[in-house]
Amino acid sequence: MVKNQKSDKKAKQTKLNIGVKAGKKKIPVPPNLRKQDEKPPLVTTTLWDYPKQSYGISPKGNNKFQGVTPAFIIWNMVQRYTKPGDLVVDPMAGSGTTVDVCEEENRKVIGYDINPQHPKIKKNDARKIPLKDKSVDMVFIDSPYGDNVKYSDEPGDIGKISAEDEKFYNELGKVAEEIYRILKPGKVVGWLIGDQWVKKKFTPVGFKIYEMLESKGLEPVDLVCIARRGQSSNTGIWHYRARKFNFYLRGFKYLHIFRKPESEKPKRQQARKKVKWAKYK
Ligand SMILES: C[S@@+](CC[C@H](N)C(=O)[O-])C[C@H]1O[C@@H](n2cnc3c(N)ncnc32)[C@H](O)[C@@H]1O
Repeated sequence: MVKNQKSDKKAKQTKLNIGVKAGKKKIPVPPNLRKQDEKPPLVTTTLWDYPKQSYGISPKGNNKFQGVTPAFIIWNMVQRYTKPGDLVVDPMAGSGTTVDVCEEENRKVIGYDINPQHPKIKKNDARKIPLKDKSVDMVFIDSPYGDNVKYSDEPGDIGKISAEDEKFYNELGKVAEEIYRILKPGKVVGWLIGDQWVKKKFTPVGFKIYEMLESKGLEPVDLVCIARRGQSSNTGIWHYRARKFNFYLRGFKYLHIFRKPESEKPKRQQARKKVKWAKYK
């Protein structure tokens, strides 16, 4: 009896000592226990930063895919703007981060891409989404930011068009129109986008996409700054060049959060006119 009590006590201690130094010996936490309940924080400011591409036990998307989305962004969008059972659509789903996050959070999800990299993603051009009007509860999209990454040889790949070319915004404008069409009134789209600095020229891609989304009749909900981590340019040589040649490496992306209005205005009123800056001169 006494012996049993002693061994019980020892077992309890061993359990409690997992992951901390038990005497001199550190007992490692088994990987399944370590990550089991890991979820990202629900962020409360407009500055979002998380050290890893994924979280939890199962991978979200493929972190080897160039241009993979940090999963915590989609997780935060899902928590804030959807409930279990809602339908989330990603028209440019790539390696499937949105699909994996939504399935784990018990949301219905449809992912499309012109060059799918995940077994559950259907091949489709985002300029024509095969879904009914007003049928979707949330859209998340991490589109190309220009032609900085080669995604595919598909002729319809918008990532072949330079962000310095107006055509880039026109083509993404067609995607925005489709997103507007499939969203239920009052529902939200999160659009992730980054600026460009190439060959000594800055292009404010984020501002241009913001303006394009407004011009399609979507209403701004908020604008979030996403700290960029794990970039290919985050190396000593690039930091050296940035100092020596006096330019900045991209440190953040924008998450544009827009809502389809509850009541649709007549088409003519919908599109907001561009501001004519000349009148303020
Ligand atoms: C930044 S990646 C998306 C990353 C994805 N969210 C992930 O986590 O893996 C942009 C994606 O847009 C896709 N794309 C480019 N043009 C497209 C088009 N016209 N229709 C659908 N997808 C397109 C590319 O194939 C690429 O996978």
